Amino acid sequence: MRRVYLDNNATTPVLPEVLAAMQPYFGEHFGNASSIHHHGQETRAAVERARESVAALLGCKPSEIVFTSGGTEGDNLAIFGVTQPGQHVITSTIEHHAVLNSCKHLEASGCEVTYVPVDGSGQVDPDDVRRALRPDTRLITIMAANNETGVLQPGEEIGKIAAEADVYFHTDAVQAAGKIAIDVKRMGCDLLSISGHKMHAPQGVGALYVRKGTALHPMLHGGSHERSRRAGTENVPGIVALGKAAELARQGLINGDIARISALRDRLEQTILDQVEGTRVNGHGAARVPNTSGIYFDCIEGEALVIALDLKGLAVSTGAACSSGAIEPSHVLTAMGLRPEQARGSIRFSLGKQNTAEEVEFALSLVPQTVARLRDLSPVYNKTASCC
Ligand SMILES: Cc1ncc(COP(=O)(O)O)c(C=O)c1O
Repeated sequence: MRRVYLDNNATTPVLPEVLAAMQPYFGEHFGNASSIHHHGQETRAAVERARESVAALLGCKPSEIVFTSGGTEGDNLAIFGVTQPGQHVITSTIEHHAVLNSCKHLEASGCEVTYVPVDGSGQVDPDDVRRALRPDTRLITIMAANNETGVLQPGEEIGKIAAEADVYFHTDAVQAAGKIAIDVKRMGCDLLSISGHKMHAPQGVGALYVRKGTALHPMLHGGSHERSRRAGTENVPGIVALGKAAELARQGLINGDIARISALRDRLEQTILDQVEGTRVNGHGAARVPNTSGIYFDCIEGEALVIALDLKGLAVSTGAACSSGAIEPSHVLTAMGLRPEQARGSIRFSLGKQNTAEEVEFALSLVPQTVARLRDLSPVYNKTASCC
């Protein structure tokens, strides 16, 4: 059976070049990067080359990169690494659970957290961030791009607000890295997390940018790896893969790769909007990353549509992978003002570098007819009024 994968915000396939780059580090180059003999020096050099590639993608110095096990760890290290009980933190209502649940944990351990809202297009208003500042504010943590809608947040403005207030600014850039150009200096952030598996490297590796001079307490206690910011023997194959993926991501931003994905996303989105009535883009009107399209289908149960499409070979999702199967409507979409049934009727299409124009046509051959069939079966769908 033919299968097309349009769920790249959940995870991306490892690119062949990335797999080829990491493979020797499972075999002949097996050394511990902390060993001083030949084997260790070989893997140390590979780790440092990868650090340079990741730093080049983010516009920072290699020494400001800390390798992690992924986005969740990077978010946790940033948040717990700079805060202490009694301090105040500002975040938004649409963060990934890696940030939201870290903030809940901070609250339980004596911090106060302000959750700034978003508007109907899913964007934080920088003025809300400014108004939330207090003398005891230590950290602002607001994502760069949302995983469900792709909506970009005003990072540069928030960076300026944080700098003026002398407050740390962390941004979860897991869904932005490789999709838009990132320059940590321009954004004015002190901490920025990325994840390998959202940019065609494997699952289980990521990086945190830590601006020089940031007072970061480590979360893991052990050896002095990663300049004592993250103890534990480095995941050399994963780090090498992340370095290669970062290199390819940087090229993709200039060689037309991302522009191609953007055109495919636009074709998919516009055709669905044109051919299926009762649809709307979540985040309409806001700047979005070029690969993501969250679409609300009137009178559709998103889970039912995901399953029906999967049976025909098309993989999409209802939103965050980790919330699939949960009955609760998406906190991101409800924060944007969608009613629970509208949030439940939303589907996320997310493209990656492997996707082709032909795959988009395959998706378009399935989505309108599958939505029509589900609506036909719906006891509440009013066919004459074209709505529930
Ligand atoms: C915005 C965002 N932050 C953090 C994460 C967590 O990253 P990881 O799966 O690498 O732990 C994800 C994963 O879906 C994400 O989309």
